Amino acid sequence: MQKNVSELTREEAQEELAFLAKKIGELDIAYHRDDAPLLTDAEYDALKHRNNDIEALFPDLIREDSPSFRVGSKISDDFKKVTHSIPMLSLGDIFTDEAVYSFVDKIKRFLGMNENDPLEFVAEPKIDGLSFSAVYKNGILFSGATRGDGTTGEDITSNLKTIKQLPISLNRGDSLFDSPVPELIDIRGEVYMSKKDFFELNKNQEEKKQKIFANPRNAAAGSLRQLDSSITANRKLSLFAYACGENSSNQFKTHYEYLQTLKKWGFPVNPEIKICKTTEEMITFFKTIGEKRSSLDYDIDGVVYKVNDLELQRRLGFIARSPRWAIAHKFPAEQATTKLLNIRIQVGRTGALTPVADLEPVNVGGVIVKHATLHNKDEIERKDIRIGDTVVIQRAGDVIPQIVRVIKEKREESSIPYEFPTICPICGSIAKKEGDDAVIYCTGELVCPAQQIEALKHFVSKDALDIEGLGEKNIEMFFELGWIKNALDLFYLEENYALLLMTRDGWGTKSAENLFTAIKEKQKGVSLERFIYALGIRETGSATARLLAKNFISWPNFYEAMTKENAFEVLTHIEGIGPVMADFIIDFFKEEHNKILLEKLAQKITVLDFVAPQQKLTPFTDKNVIFTGTLETMTRAEAKAKALAAGAKVVSSVSSKTNFVIAGEAAGSKLSTAQKLGITILTEKEFNQMLDDL
Ligand code: IVH
Repeated sequence: MQKNVSELTREEAQEELAFLAKKIGELDIAYHRDDAPLLTDAEYDALKHRNNDIEALFPDLIREDSPSFRVGSKISDDFKKVTHSIPMLSLGDIFTDEAVYSFVDKIKRFLGMNENDPLEFVAEPKIDGLSFSAVYKNGILFSGATRGDGTTGEDITSNLKTIKQLPISLNRGDSLFDSPVPELIDIRGEVYMSKKDFFELNKNQEEKKQKIFANPRNAAAGSLRQLDSSITANRKLSLFAYACGENSSNQFKTHYEYLQTLKKWGFPVNPEIKICKTTEEMITFFKTIGEKRSSLDYDIDGVVYKVNDLELQRRLGFIARSPRWAIAHKFPAEQATTKLLNIRIQVGRTGALTPVADLEPVNVGGVIVKHATLHNKDEIERKDIRIGDTVVIQRAGDVIPQIVRVIKEKREESSIPYEFPTICPICGSIAKKEGDDAVIYCTGELVCPAQQIEALKHFVSKDALDIEGLGEKNIEMFFELGWIKNALDLFYLEENYALLLMTRDGWGTKSAENLFTAIKEKQKGVSLERFIYALGIRETGSATARLLAKNFISWPNFYEAMTKENAFEVLTHIEGIGPVMADFIIDFFKEEHNKILLEKLAQKITVLDFVAPQQKLTPFTDKNVIFTGTLETMTRAEAKAKALAAGAKVVSSVSSKTNFVIAGEAAGSKLSTAQKLGITILTEKEFNQMLDDL
């Protein structure tokens, strides 16, 4: 006979909470992963209630792996940022069978293998959801994060805990879950919404007159990124685990073995996954999955091939942001036919006139498409696109739909070619081409409201000043009210319009104050790269802004350099900045109105000096390295990649500036030159040893 909760001693409560955490965890796996419930819903609910009741009496005994976290927790103000200890990378993509062959060939060459040497790959469906990282410490879910920009993501621990397919604890100690659990392991995979749950959610949303989601991916994203995790708990989310970040053990030899262990630990692992021993098998897998695609209950957008052997994965390493050992083989873009109702011209921040196609709504692979991009005037002329035409459109992944071609046979006789405007539809200024660029620009610049408003939106956007509560809608409203015309006006909003704002519909004292606080917060310090990016200089995206910040360190330094005679030489000397970009930057600083605005802005905002992220110093950092002779344990490409990863510059001829010569078998003249110059010479073994010691 079970004791009444109120009669439990502290020890008994503790014991029972431990028992319930384990038991409910197992039931969750049986139900959510295996679709094989071990108890009736009522019996299961009774266990959960008992757990909650005990926790209510002994709140200090609530376990880290408590099943009560499954229901989500209260609203938090914002997601905390988390830095991934190992970056979450993206995948290169390919679209043809030939590309699969060359992917495999390249890997074999890199590894110094022969064309016919066997090499195993694991082929997996590429799930169209959102990637997650879940860190387990001593087998207990410790933290969860989104991918973010790959380096830093958002802390979604409490949201992830509500997904019942994600085990909260791996450390079960019985035969079902008998694989040893590393002290720390970062398990990665994809959160998605099944097609069935997606349709159900939208049906409910419609009944409640709430937001309808365009596709399962958006629904999953909208559900996972909820500050109130109890909303996440009410949405049915699923997941597949398929990758590994940091892992304190090296208990796995192959990726496939890792996946099998994930299953034992309670994670859903995609059942379609297969080992392929030849390239032909990989291509067959792609075709089979393609045929199955519509019958699967989740969206996929291709197949991922991964080298199975983890040691080989390690040797292969990465190119920029993607692994060399894996690739995504994507399905071709989905197409549909519809009618072009109108061509609308949008004017962007830089004054570019962008034509947009308004379409008769059409379903393209499960998504209703109403608009497509037409790029520019030349594109419309080349494809002879006219209003009223029947057109073939296509959508690939997240990309904005495009018009592939016009079905000329269906064109009405009365149809006339589209005439691209020669004046800006917003401000009436002349619109014309600049140089060789295919784009037509409005010459109105600051008199053009479209450009002003886009510049403002850019200034506060996520990668720029990122002012909370100041989204596109509010910028539009303030602009239309005439409260702000340029970035500087933002910092006078409170002074001039506080009362007016507080009394506006939908606003109050609190929301207005929050906005002013957010603005003031940014005035206290904005990083140099964000500030440069925020200015919206043409061709200067985040990466360029960062490059500039890295080279000029402080705002006064950058400003001064840009207004000097030799600015062009200084800029083009920076690796990654070409003459076109340099011209745009210099032109920006030449404009008198920009100069005035910048001076005033710099008084209102503290622009922080650039701080370089700490990079591990190695004996090879910034050193010139050269390889000569035949290497035994690795190919030239692999050796080069290793040296680059350790911070070296790999050069091809020996000079007094060379720091290291790595000499393999039968090294020739380069070795003797190096000896004459007294340059440090390393054997392959010594080179490997130095890298191992890092
Ligand atoms: S492996 C280092 N496997 O695709 C490689 N990714 O374009 C890590 N994705 O951000 C990814 N299904 O969100 C891998 N079976 C699968 C996948 C998969 C979907 C997503 C993932 C990643 C993106 C890369």
